[in-house]
Amino acid sequence: MSSDDNPAAARWHRLVTDRLDEVERLSPGRGSFSGAFWDRRADRYAAHVKTTDIEDDPFLRALRRLSDRGTTAIDVGAGTGRFALGLAGGVGHVTAVDPSAGMLAILGRDAEQAGVTNVTTVQGTWEQAVTQVADVVFSAFVLTLVPDARRFVGKLDAAARDHVLLYLGAYSADAVLDPLWRHFHGAPRTPGPSYLDALAVLHELGIAPQVKVVEIVNRRRFATVEEAVERYRDWLLLPDTPGVNDELAALLATWLLGRRGALRSPLRAQPAAIVRWRPGADVGSTRA
Ligand SMILES: C[S@@+](CC[C@H](N)C(=O)[O-])C[C@H]1O[C@@H](n2cnc3c(N)ncnc32)[C@H](O)[C@@H]1O
Repeated sequence: MSSDDNPAAARWHRLVTDRLDEVERLSPGRGSFSGAFWDRRADRYAAHVKTTDIEDDPFLRALRRLSDRGTTAIDVGAGTGRFALGLAGGVGHVTAVDPSAGMLAILGRDAEQAGVTNVTTVQGTWEQAVTQVADVVFSAFVLTLVPDARRFVGKLDAAARDHVLLYLGAYSADAVLDPLWRHFHGAPRTPGPSYLDALAVLHELGIAPQVKVVEIVNRRRFATVEEAVERYRDWLLLPDTPGVNDELAALLATWLLGRRGALRSPLRAQPAAIVRWRPGADVGSTRA
């Protein structure tokens, strides 16, 4: 890709790879954010997303407004399937694409438990996946892991008949974690791309989306400081050693709010952007 032709896409690529390189440097083996990375986190991720009231989620509400019982949808990077399963009851069919077998196994288990029979899983990255065209194609909290945003978005556009939707954080949790990050790493974290960088990439593709910034309330609670240490150690890319655990526990004991049994981060809510457009814009060479 020539950075002269597509400066926003080139900037996106640099932001994602610099961020992943930092992850890889501090926690070798994690920087690829491959399927295996998510396989190891699937149970934990499923437990976390269960703390979010999906029925309340503005993205799910937007998806429901745009669909009916005959709608077909593709959930790209479906993870454990909170949106695929949340949507399934009101549409004809959902295809859930994800490279992580672990995430998709939880999605399959939960679908079975809920009696959902109209969700099909496809294991693979979106770049590799072979799917039919669908009415609505959406992707939540995935794009910032993907260096080649042009290709990824171009394929979303090409796979959609009526609507494409992206859900992206509109605020970096890094800002909240910064004092803890600096305490251990001595420098600020390498920034990843923001939803504004995504909008610039879309603009280069000739896509003019509607954008709505919404709020996701943070309902995550920790029963004990020790439980919080497990989570924050992972977010802060720290090794699991007694020294680190003790130091982190001492910091979190003063940093977390709330009472024992329901400790919480000072981040009360997380803004997120719903980015939506009609497919078929001139997306140049990326369109299949
Ligand atoms: C943060 S999780 C989001 C899961 C789900 N969309 C949600 O909001 O709960 C990111 C997911 O993206 C998947 N993923 C990463 N790279 C991908 C790619 N290139 N194509 C499709 N999915 C990808 C991961 O396996 C993981 O399940």
